[in-house]
Amino acid sequence: MKEERVFSFAGMTSRIIIGEAAPSAGEIIRDAGGNVSGILAICDEHTLPLAKKITSERPASLCVLPPGEEAKTWESVERILKTARDSGLGRDSLFMGIGGGVVTDLAGFAASVYMRGTGLCFVSTTLLGMVDAAVGGKTGFDLFGAKNLTGTFYPASLVYMPVETLRTLPEREWKSGMAELVKTAVIAGAELFQILKSDRLDPDDGETLAACIARAVAVKGGIVEADPLELGTARALLNLGHTFGHALESSAGLGRISHGEAVAWGMVRACELGVKLGVTPPGRALDIRRLLESYDFELEAPHPFMGEDDCFIKAIEGDKKKKAGLPSFIVPGTEGARIVPAARINGTGGWTCVIKNIIDGAAL
Ligand SMILES: NC(=O)c1ccc[n+]([C@@H]2O[C@H](COP(=O)([O-])OP(=O)(O)OC[C@H]3O[C@@H](n4cnc5c(N)ncnc54)[C@H](O)[C@@H]3O)[C@@H](O)[C@H]2O)c1
Repeated sequence: MKEERVFSFAGMTSRIIIGEAAPSAGEIIRDAGGNVSGILAICDEHTLPLAKKITSERPASLCVLPPGEEAKTWESVERILKTARDSGLGRDSLFMGIGGGVVTDLAGFAASVYMRGTGLCFVSTTLLGMVDAAVGGKTGFDLFGAKNLTGTFYPASLVYMPVETLRTLPEREWKSGMAELVKTAVIAGAELFQILKSDRLDPDDGETLAACIARAVAVKGGIVEADPLELGTARALLNLGHTFGHALESSAGLGRISHGEAVAWGMVRACELGVKLGVTPPGRALDIRRLLESYDFELEAPHPFMGEDDCFIKAIEGDKKKKAGLPSFIVPGTEGARIVPAARINGTGGWTCVIKNIIDGAAL
């Protein structure tokens, strides 16, 4: 079983290979065309055994980072760059990011700035990484307490997605990826939506999993190909569920609720807003809710971990993706999704009152 997709992001080609097993460094170098003077494997403590296995038959430098979002810092970038420098790696070396979105975002950033750009490949090991983070070329790290404040556009030329690695994923990480997979299906994947609806996806079902990941990759890759540097609005559709979700995460206190739980809950709120505005057909909103329920997401409003309404609205207002000082909301349409600027949400008391009603469960 092997699925391949090739994209061109801002003139840089990205070949994505979805298969059962992780590749060896030898295979990766062959796929990269052979001209690699040195390898730097970048992983975290949880993906270290895989990194060692991949590089077992080739000399490679290794940079092991602590796991999780807390490690998405300048210090980690510096550690990667220092390991590369201390190992004498040149521009024609290959950085291999082996892990989830944190590792691939960091490895991508480091590769984009080391000697003004070195070779880059990913072995993505989380569901969220496969359906989202490893595709599209956005790299970065958190700075001054702001998530992804600093980054570059630098797609990996090769991205491997070995589904066998997903069998060791903790439940929480699996659900984070599931929320993004459902989001992708709502945005542009009617067929993917049907598969997810008809069969509860399982980490042990490699074939179906690979087929779903391939479809999600095609959706995200297609959206990014059309707007690789995020100059237009199409890429904003990928934020379905995220405006409400990020606000829930920050009003609850970072870390109290998982990203996937927040995005799933946010998608249901986006559906409710869409129904209220006459953009989302009620039947579609129900379909999306039922699918998320079947994956055991907590969807009730108000969310048990939600802070004060005002704190929630402040978090929405602070969203860095706002335009002309106002946030936008992505809501499902009859097909796909639509962007609704806050200025278009009319109601007594303005958009903040409408949103407060929705998050308090008083919307419908
Ligand atoms: N670049 C992009 O376009 C983009 C898109 C979406 C998200 N992101 C970024 O991705 C990050 C989140 O990625 P994530 O959810 O993969 O988190 P992550 O990289 O922190 O991985 C989650 C946890 O799972 C562990 N892990 C990874 N693979 C494993 C495996 N196969 N088995 C067991 N444990 C494993 C990790 O060590 C970590 O503890 C965020 O920083 C986010 O900003 C980037």
